[in-house]
Amino acid sequence: MPLVLPTAEAVYVPQCGAGGGRSVVVLGSTGSVGSQAIDVIAAHPERFRAVALAAGGANPALLARQALQTGARMVAVTNPSAVREFTDAFTALAWAEGTSRRPLPVVLPGAEGLSAAAGWPCDVVLNALPGAAGLPATLTALKAGSLVALANKESLVAGGELIRRVAGPGQIVPVDCGHSAIMQCLPGWAYACPVPGVQRLILTCSGGPFRTHTRAQLAAVTPAQTLAHPRWRMGPLVTVNSATLVNKGLELIEAQTLFGLGYDRLSVVIHPQSVVHSMAEYTDGSALAQAAPPDMRLPIAAALAWPQRPPPGVVASLDWTRAHTWAFEPVDEDRFPALALACHAGRLGGTAPAAFNAANEEAVTAFLTGAIPFTAITDAIEQTLNHHTPVPDHDLTPDAVQAADAWARQHTRNHLLGLPAPIRGLAPNPARPAKEA
Ligand SMILES: NC(=O)c1ccc[n+]([C@@H]2O[C@H](COP(=O)([O-])OP(=O)(O)OC[C@H]3O[C@@H](n4cnc5c(N)ncnc54)[C@H](OP(=O)(O)O)[C@@H]3O)[C@@H](O)[C@H]2O)c1
Repeated sequence: MPLVLPTAEAVYVPQCGAGGGRSVVVLGSTGSVGSQAIDVIAAHPERFRAVALAAGGANPALLARQALQTGARMVAVTNPSAVREFTDAFTALAWAEGTSRRPLPVVLPGAEGLSAAAGWPCDVVLNALPGAAGLPATLTALKAGSLVALANKESLVAGGELIRRVAGPGQIVPVDCGHSAIMQCLPGWAYACPVPGVQRLILTCSGGPFRTHTRAQLAAVTPAQTLAHPRWRMGPLVTVNSATLVNKGLELIEAQTLFGLGYDRLSVVIHPQSVVHSMAEYTDGSALAQAAPPDMRLPIAAALAWPQRPPPGVVASLDWTRAHTWAFEPVDEDRFPALALACHAGRLGGTAPAAFNAANEEAVTAFLTGAIPFTAITDAIEQTLNHHTPVPDHDLTPDAVQAADAWARQHTRNHLLGLPAPIRGLAPNPARPAKEA
């Protein structure tokens, strides 16, 4: 059963514009997606208003500016030692801007604060946290009954089956531009899959900065080169994932969880211009594509506004008076093995996607610190997947996902440090059910 359903069947359709616009909680508000969401909300007060924000605490001044700008009633700061900096920055800014009568929002620290923000009463929770750590927040927001605008694809990858059990019909709206494009290419904004007549979903992919590199050249790229994405400004994890194509691999698993068409009917095609954001191919020979400038504010606004169209002017339209060339080319899976690995993990199901994701996050951290070469990232994922015995979907619990995540991280670290891999029977895989351990 796919997670996304036709508008007519979806029960989670907030009243657009009622009571001063949709109330929105932004998790990860100071990040790339989160900041752009704040821009969209601030530009369209008739449609949206931010009621709570959450961030880790690395940028308290920006968080304070956002809280002041949006008038959010609650702010969660996961790092407790950043709370004081946040409140000082808020007070100083309010004073400097002559808005000192605006009350300090309720500030909640730690993981409890983040959980409170995810469950805060609102119409829509935008989850723009990075990594598998975003899963508990997704589950909390779903259980609280909010519509979830999901940028945190790792939630769906690591915990797709857990999310499926708690998500109501149509309660999740994707923010990833590819999945947002697909939902716009299905009939009448209705994201019913399998839609009769849809034979394939095609995710486009910029190919990243190393699209034309040989395997030897890939082995020599530096973290700085990798973080300079040609089209998108994103957080470090997703930028590296874009360069390895792990990001597209995660998106394949995400597409399967959201639309349920089957891995054999999902494809990826390289499109360096990043204007066509994805396509739905129909059995009649047509492919419907969504095209727009590469700007995350559009899919963010589309998710916040669903099932209505986003407000006018979120991004400037394409200039059709100019000549354009759009290229499409197949992925070279020898140089970029991440897609095949992701499909393998997705087909294995259960805890395998969580292990895939955790291995990648560990390997990316090692790459960014200069400890391993670029090509070792996907090698490490493959190595970890090969040693993982997944807990099957029907036995999946939050603890099993967490254990698989922890096991895969440890396994990947051991592998990268050249330490012995945990061996079945000697160092049991905690993701395996107890009777097998
Ligand atoms: N960036 C894009 O264009 C893009 C596009 C599609 C999908 N996505 C997906 O969107 C998600 C976010 O990506 P991003 O690029 O926006 O990430 P990012 O720039 O790294 O921002 C992450 C945000 O989450 C906050 N955060 C991190 N850990 C936290 C914690 N434990 N508690 C509370 N807040 C925490 C950060 O706050 P601090 O900085 O204070 O820690 C920051 O506000 C990822 O899943 C990514 O795959 C991103």
